[in-house]
Amino acid sequence: MSAPSMTLFHNPASPFVRKVRVLLLETGQHDRVTLHGCMPTPVNPDAQLVQDNPVGKIPALRLPDGSVLHDSRVILDYFDHQHVGNPLIPRDGSARWRRLTLASMADGILDAAVLVRYETALRPVEKHWAPWLDEQRNKINRTLAELEQDAIAELTSHFDIAAISVACALGYLDFRHPDMHWRLANPQLAAWYAEVSQRPSMQQTQPPA
Ligand code: BEZ
Repeated sequence: MSAPSMTLFHNPASPFVRKVRVLLLETGQHDRVTLHGCMPTPVNPDAQLVQDNPVGKIPALRLPDGSVLHDSRVILDYFDHQHVGNPLIPRDGSARWRRLTLASMADGILDAAVLVRYETALRPVEKHWAPWLDEQRNKINRTLAELEQDAIAELTSHFDIAAISVACALGYLDFRHPDMHWRLANPQLAAWYAEVSQRPSMQQTQPPA
């Protein structure tokens, strides 16, 4: 494997970064990137990161020619075009739109879960907006319920963009929101996650303890 020539702006707690790292490991490309740690928050952007990504979000990927890709969906697509194995994002047909829609559901869970994390961990408690927090949690629970009801067979069929995204979303709920007890209402998802979370790519990218 040649020396890494790309820089991935990353934080081990970010579930969006985790999706990229899981795909890199699943496709044998992890050694192609150098990890550059940063911890942007909504009130404290990372100065170096915003030079490369004005939105200030991770992951961002600096390519060998100096150009920068973001966000996680774009970076996942980029790396999926860089390996010779079966694509983890179907290239066309109904499978493409269905797998990307499942991945989008997982991203929706993550968007809400990260917002709840910011609101509860960063914002002074007297400023917490309870109805807004409730609706973010409702969004997570509704989406989990649909995955539980409609998507278990699809998730089980292969570990691709859809499964990676859902697995990283569930991992983030365990990491930041164990109080949501998502397994109680979603036993099939819980059984599926128990299995996929043993994959080396998931084990090697676990968020910090
Ligand atoms: C977190 O610490 O929960 C987090 C870190 C980076 C991005 C998103 C979430």
